[in-house]
Formats: sequence, C-alpha cells, structure tokens
Amino acid sequence: MTHDIDLTDLDRFAGGFPYEVFERLRRQAPVWWHPPTENTPDGEGFWVVSRYHDVVAAGTDAATFSSQGTTVRSGGGTLIEDLPDGAAPGILLNMLDQPRHTSFRKMLQPSVARQTLARIESDLRNRAAAIVERAVARSECDFLVDVAAELPLQAVAQLLGVPQEDRHRLLGWANATLDYSDRDLGQSSALSEQAAVEMFSYGGQLLRHKRESPGEDLMSIAATGTLDGEPLSDLEQQMLFNLLIAAGSETTRNAIAGGMLALAEQPQTWRELQSDRGPLGSAIEEMLRWSSPTPYNRRTATTDCLLGGQQIRRGEKVTLWWASANRDPEVFTDPDTFDIHRTPNPHVAFGRGIHFCLGAALARMEMRVLFEALLDRVDAAVVLGPAEHIRSNKHTGIRHLPMRLQGRQ
Ligand code: HEM
Repeated sequence: MTHDIDLTDLDRFAGGFPYEVFERLRRQAPVWWHPPTENTPDGEGFWVVSRYHDVVAAGTDAATFSSQGTTVRSGGGTLIEDLPDGAAPGILLNMLDQPRHTSFRKMLQPSVARQTLARIESDLRNRAAAIVERAVARSECDFLVDVAAELPLQAVAQLLGVPQEDRHRLLGWANATLDYSDRDLGQSSALSEQAAVEMFSYGGQLLRHKRESPGEDLMSIAATGTLDGEPLSDLEQQMLFNLLIAAGSETTRNAIAGGMLALAEQPQTWRELQSDRGPLGSAIEEMLRWSSPTPYNRRTATTDCLLGGQQIRRGEKVTLWWASANRDPEVFTDPDTFDIHRTPNPHVAFGRGIHFCLGAALARMEMRVLFEALLDRVDAAVVLGPAEHIRSNKHTGIRHLPMRLQGRQ
C-alpha cells in the first residue's frame, strides 16, 4: 500500500523522479492524503493528486485551488512548505490569485508574445550553433553544463535585458537557491542564503538602471509599467526577476537534457530526425512529457470540495503532480515509452489553467533551435557515464551529464 511512501524525503528523488511510486498511487490511491513524516515541512500532511484528469480538473479551477493560499491560511504558495503571506504568495506572479494575477500577466504578455520571440530567433540560432560547435570540438563534454544550460541562460538574459557577461553569475545563484544537495525541504543553507542576497542586490541595481534608461526588455516593462494604474512595488519587481531567472533557466535545460538522454538511447530516432525534420515538433512535445522538469505545484483548497471522490477541506494543501499525469495510461498509450510520433500529446509539463507557463513559447523555441543545431552537426550522441540527478522534488533534472558529441563528417 502507501505506508512506505514519503514524497518529502529528497533522497527518494536523488536518482531521478520516482515514476514507480506514482504508478502505484495512480492505481491505488489517486487522491492520497500524505501524512506528515519527519521530513515534511510544517509537520502537516497534504493531498497528492496523481491522475491526469484530477490534476487537470484542479489545475483549471483556480477559484477552488488557490496558488496564493493566504486568503484561507497564514502561509501559502505553490511549494509543499508554506511561504509567509507577502513574501512570495501575493507578490510573485505564479503565487497570485485573480483578479491581480490576470492584470499582472497581461502586463508581461507582450514581452513573451510570438512576434517578440520571432525577433530573437535568429540570434538564438547563432548562439545555438556556437554552443554546439564548441561541444563537438571537444572529445568529451558535460552536456548539461556546456550545452543544455547555455542556451536557456543566454535566452533569459536577453529576454530580461541582463548583460550577457553576467549570465554565469546568475546561473550560479539560480543553482544555489534551487539546489537541495546540502539541505532539506523548507531549510536554507549558507550557500543558498548568500546566493539569494547577491541575486537580490544584483536585481535591485538592474531595476534601477532600467528605470533610468528603459529598453524593450521584460525587466524594463516590470520597472516602468503600471498595473491597474499603479507601478509594481519594489518587492514585486525584485521577486519577478528572481522568478524569471529560476523559471527560465532551470526547467528548459532539464527538458533539453532529458530529451537528449532519451534520444541517445534511440540512435535510429536520431538518424530519422536527421533525414526528416518533420517530426521535430512532436519530438519536442514528447521530450517535455518525458522529462516533466516541474514535477508538481501546490494549491490550497479555498473551500470544502470533492476531488477524485475524496473530501478535501478548506485550507488543506493539495499537490498536483504534472509528472505523474504525464505518465497516466488512461491518457497516454505506453506512457513509459519515448515516442517522437506521439499524437495527440496533451501533456501538462507546462501546467494547465490560468498559471499555464508564461515562457512556454520561448522554451519550445529554444528547444527547437538547439536540437536543429545538434541534428545539423552531430552524427552520434554517446553517453559516457551516469547522469547526476538533482536531489529535489520541485525540479526534476540533471546537474552533470558526460557525453561525446561526434561531429558529422
Ligand atoms: C521546459 C521549460 C519549462 C517548463 C517545464 C515550465 C513549467 C512551468 C509550469 C508547470 C508552470 C505552472 C506553475 C503552476 O501552475 O503553479 C509554469 C509557470 C510559469 N513559468 Fe514556466 N516552465 C518552463 C519554462 C519557462 C521559461 C523559459 C520561463 C520564462 C522565461 C518560464 C516562466 C514561467 C512563469 C513566469 C510562470 C508563472 C505563470 C503564471 O503564474 O501565470 N517558464 N512553468
């Protein structure tokens, strides 16, 4: 049964996402009350929603399943651990409820719209070519660091209007604040605290600069735009900067690395894509389903309700497991097979409902541009050693992946 399951024990995630645990949950207890364990933040249990249809039902009902949470309890947000009111819930875009969420999102939308992204595509293409050529020139590379992390970082730096020469400092800070290698859920470490302070101070300076001489980038919009007639508060601007650095760099690199690992195991699929780019679009959707870089987001029930036949009480924490939904056999035939021709592929790697990923079009474009550069230049992609996974239940991904990218003759 479920007595041995502890989704707050990060060691269970250190070897990758525990799909087998969720296979059991979907079958035996699709909406499961996770009792508190010694690892659970706040010493409080929470609901675990693992089936596709229940995840989508809750994800698309933001009035009942709140991302802010603080209207019905003292802490809230989208992590299992409560974040205090006014620190992130109620401030960060992804931890806001309507109506403020709608206006906030509308303000940012133009900076991630397709037409805006089309303007940076050819620049990203040149960057992708340079990244791949450097990696091919070496007999061995760390695919995660040298290839997968680079393009998202350069893209998010460009989107936010951060000077490219500063991007590696940002990566270091993002890694330190998202990493749980030296701490457990709900805790901070000296490293993560120092990184948060440095990122905050850098963001503050950047925003001051954008206020004085704004450009067309996203941080200029955040620094000078108005929401319902009022400028964003300093804290809202700062937190948005932190959110976008983390959301923009961590997830996309993991989708790229997860996709590459799957393709490295199917050399015939690599050759097929080399001779015909037609299925690349569906291959990218499959990489997103397969890697599910954001495994879950939490909500808080704003009212007593029923979900998957379970009675949920007002104020309780409810976690929606996108990664599990993406392997639900009721929706995906042979869910544990990586199939680049899978159609339809209604995966929820970018979430569902009003909080659907703001950067989805950018992430898809980065993946397409990078895999085109790889397919153009790499004959065979060989994994040379085991991938080092992230010890986290909030991000599924890889920190290091030794590979050889054999150049095309
Ligand atoms: C493969 C890459 C990515 C994945 C898998 C991913 C995943 C997600 C998911 C699951 C959500 C929904 C969160 C929720 O419902 O609580 C989300 C929201 C969000 N994502 Fe992404 N993301 C990716 C790339 C990006 C990029 C490149 C950016 C920014 C440039 C970004 C910015 C955001 C923002 C701002 C939100 C909050 C939207 C809102 O609350 O309205 N993401 N993402």
